[in-house]
Amino acid sequence: MDVTQVYKFGKTLGSGSFGSVVYGVNRFTRERVAIKIISKVMCHRKGIKIHDILREIKLLSKVHHENVIGLVDWYEDDGCFYIITKLAKGGELFDRIMEESFFSEQDAVKVITKLLHAVIYLHDHGIVHRDIKPENILYMNPYDNDSIVLCDFGLATYISPNRPKLFGTPGTPTYRAPELFLNNGHDNKVDIWGIGIIAYILITGRVPVSQDSNVKRFLELVNHPAFPTFVEPDETSPLSASSKDFVRICLNTIPEKRPTARELLNHPWISGHTAYNTYNLIPNIRANFNAKKALQLAIRKVIMENNLKKLKALNEEVASATIVNANILSVPVPRNSNESLFSYKSSNSSFESLLSGCDGRSRSSSVVSMLSMEDLDEKQRRKSSLSVHILQDLVKTVTENSDELGI
Ligand SMILES: Nc1ncnc2c1ncn2[C@@H]1O[C@H](COP(=O)(O)OP(=O)(O)O)[C@@H](O)[C@H]1O
Ligand SMILES: [Mg+2]
Repeated sequence: MDVTQVYKFGKTLGSGSFGSVVYGVNRFTRERVAIKIISKVMCHRKGIKIHDILREIKLLSKVHHENVIGLVDWYEDDGCFYIITKLAKGGELFDRIMEESFFSEQDAVKVITKLLHAVIYLHDHGIVHRDIKPENILYMNPYDNDSIVLCDFGLATYISPNRPKLFGTPGTPTYRAPELFLNNGHDNKVDIWGIGIIAYILITGRVPVSQDSNVKRFLELVNHPAFPTFVEPDETSPLSASSKDFVRICLNTIPEKRPTARELLNHPWISGHTAYNTYNLIPNIRANFNAKKALQLAIRKVIMENNLKKLKALNEEVASATIVNANILSVPVPRNSNESLFSYKSSNSSFESLLSGCDGRSRSSSVVSMLSMEDLDEKQRRKSSLSVHILQDLVKTVTENSDELGI
């Protein structure tokens, strides 16, 4: 059956790299769910293969733990995959914390403990999550602080004695473990780094090292003996020595020296009642985490504006060219692809029509060209790629700010 015959689609819950996650209701059972819509076109453009999507679904179907999001079902049609999961009604970790008026180290410990249980379960089953970050930690229930679940298995994979090391550089730059940049292989200790980052953000509102494209600088910073440094703004919110120790051992740059998730459960900060409960971390978290979000938004806006300018310039060039053969302007079909399930042409046309304001002349126009076929082809490719980037940024910005925009 078609997904729309079974589920009614609702508002957007979140946006990711390859599509969005929307609210859904099962037309027959009335069960409320989350539907992750993964666009095949977007995946192809980002080099994601069908088997990567199928692996996310397969992994999700195998995991059954109270701190891991549960799979309900999945569907596929010509344009998209639809991964149906249980609805996390409490939203993302930091959005929820931001609503609290008091949040102490002991509350942070509760979050980290749940996360540790999720990671122990995954590691025991030979699964590495590889994308532990705030947006992937959700609350199942808005009124239950214990209902934490880890979601997004898009980068998760299996590790085993036969395959002890993984390769590639998955994950979001800010949350990536240093070994991911060294190309010597990585293992499940990347998740421990992720837990260290979350713990650091929970107690300070900051990220320990803001990692940009400069890998050399990032590696210098994390290998500095003082890393990670803790900024304690005033005596109203000091951090316990054990909280800092917990973060430090998770953020050891040598993966073998990082404890396992099970060992971390016995750390004094987690089990030894050394976490402070009198100091409120909220003002700090709010100031730092919100400031970072605002900065990201401003940066994305500038990138989007620049891309729009480039797209307009490209449109003007292409529009003043001769197209002897109208086919020359057809949407470029990716080469060397054996993934016949992808329907690039139709999906690309819909991107173009969405961006019709920017897209200038139609492909059937017959004008005088000063450009070679190759030039035109290349420019069309750049146009398509820019359009997709602008659209992605736009969708991301709008969904992340839907409250402010009142939609
Ligand atoms: N089961 C769910 N319930 C509620 N919101 C969800 C659920 N799954 C995902 N989301 C929201 O959608 C966002 C993107 O989902 P995610 O699976 O992380 O996709 P991506 O791989 O694109 O990052 C999440 O950060 C979260 O805000
Ligand atoms: Mg995600």
